[in-house]
Amino acid sequence: MVGNPLRDPQDRRLPRIAGPCGMVLFGVTGDLSRKKVMPAIYDLANRGLLPPGFSLVGFARRDWAHQDFAQIVHDSVRQHARTEFREEVWQQLAEGFRFVPGDFSDDLAFEGLRRTIEELDVVRGTGGNHAFYLSIPPRFFGEVVQQLQEHGLVDHREGSWRRVVVEKPFGHDLESARELNDIIGQVFPSGSVFRIDHYLGKETVQNILAMRFANAMFEPLWNANYVDHVQITMAEDIGIGGRAGYYDGIGAARDVIQNHLMQLMALVAMEEPPSFDAENLRQEKLKVLSSVSLPNRLDLHTARGQYAPGWAGGIKVPGYLEEDGIPRTSTTETFAAIRLDIDNRRWAGVPFYLRAGKRLGRRVTEVAVVFKGAPHLPFAKAATEDLTQNAFVIRVQPDEGLTVRFGSKVPGTAMEIRDVSMDFAYGGSFTEASPEAYERLILDVLLGDPPLFPRHEEVELSWRILDPILNHWARKGRPDAYESGTWGPHSADLMLARDGRTWRRP
Ligand code: BG6
Repeated sequence: MVGNPLRDPQDRRLPRIAGPCGMVLFGVTGDLSRKKVMPAIYDLANRGLLPPGFSLVGFARRDWAHQDFAQIVHDSVRQHARTEFREEVWQQLAEGFRFVPGDFSDDLAFEGLRRTIEELDVVRGTGGNHAFYLSIPPRFFGEVVQQLQEHGLVDHREGSWRRVVVEKPFGHDLESARELNDIIGQVFPSGSVFRIDHYLGKETVQNILAMRFANAMFEPLWNANYVDHVQITMAEDIGIGGRAGYYDGIGAARDVIQNHLMQLMALVAMEEPPSFDAENLRQEKLKVLSSVSLPNRLDLHTARGQYAPGWAGGIKVPGYLEEDGIPRTSTTETFAAIRLDIDNRRWAGVPFYLRAGKRLGRRVTEVAVVFKGAPHLPFAKAATEDLTQNAFVIRVQPDEGLTVRFGSKVPGTAMEIRDVSMDFAYGGSFTEASPEAYERLILDVLLGDPPLFPRHEEVELSWRILDPILNHWARKGRPDAYESGTWGPHSADLMLARDGRTWRRP
């Protein structure tokens, strides 16, 4: 992230390359490892950002030799890596692969892991620096970190480091989030815990800070004097795929609102920090999250839905209750919309509407800052009939960029004003493709650079906001059905209509 030159004399234009180190990956057979983590490691190596002796140790309950593990990584890289496959990069990387078979209760396996790491320090020069990546269900976190501790894997020599990387869900409510944090905190000091919220690794999300704080023209308008409301949308066209085991009982709000959308909201709403180091950034995000209040009537200002059969990309798709592994009586929501208010001077009276859902019309994540109308329109009423509110839209994905929507005269002999838009697209302005979020985040873990990782206090505050809504929904029974391929349940439209607003149809 952008550094303050007064505080940080390092020239950030130099590539940030990780020093000698290795990573131990728990959960190597999982979706996330194969689709995101392994490809990102290769992409980093391909970009020359990993040290030459980088080592990757896989740990799983599989009867594999090192070569079998290498083959799994190879297949995942060939299928999912962002950058081109180069044999020489692969060969060098693969020399540092090791596999340790065993389950999480197996003391001998953890002894084997310790010996493997010591061997790598000698033959690959990893210098005692190792990150333990827990790409496993949180119920195993406790057992694994305790095993790491008991087998001396957390102790490190002076000048070297051990870090732990955890993936969401960070609990399923405030209480369980605290428990999880305690479990990890008993073994790793907080500065060595890296919680991944992959949205913070996205270029377009980091660009919210650049856009707001590197420019003069947005910030003067960025407040309750000019902004009518903010809409944060994370729409997916996919269903739950093969993730029934993870998703059912979790639902859209816990899956993505508690983390990705609340982080987006915090970045959009926070004050300017004195610098972008982890502590300052976190302070500002915490201030926003602790100023959030819920509407009094949760029944009127939240909505939730579950997808019914319908169409996606021209293909007939089943409803949530027909998906493999989902109980026919499931009340898990696949769509959630909530209204939050931020009780501070900047945002008083400006609702933030957050919505997320699966099997919606198309895949799009965006933040739309919608402005109030001009205080006075000196035109005939008919001239501005097609004019809506000005909007500033941060297009997180796909089609990454920014759009400004404003009114313009339609060419012709009469005065007629209509919405037009002005676009910035990454593809049109930059020649370099954006790295995947996981590339950035894994590199930051290896560099020990924490600003893009949420701290426990942020996680707690997000649960504090969400828990009453989840409890309210739990009392209500079934979510409303919506047809796959549409924009969610009718109740979501009603929720905004009550406030005299409508959702954007991106
Ligand atoms: C994950 C959620 O965090 O984000 C998934 O668990 C979701 O349910 C995914 O599909 C979406 O990520 P992205 O980067 O494709 O927007």
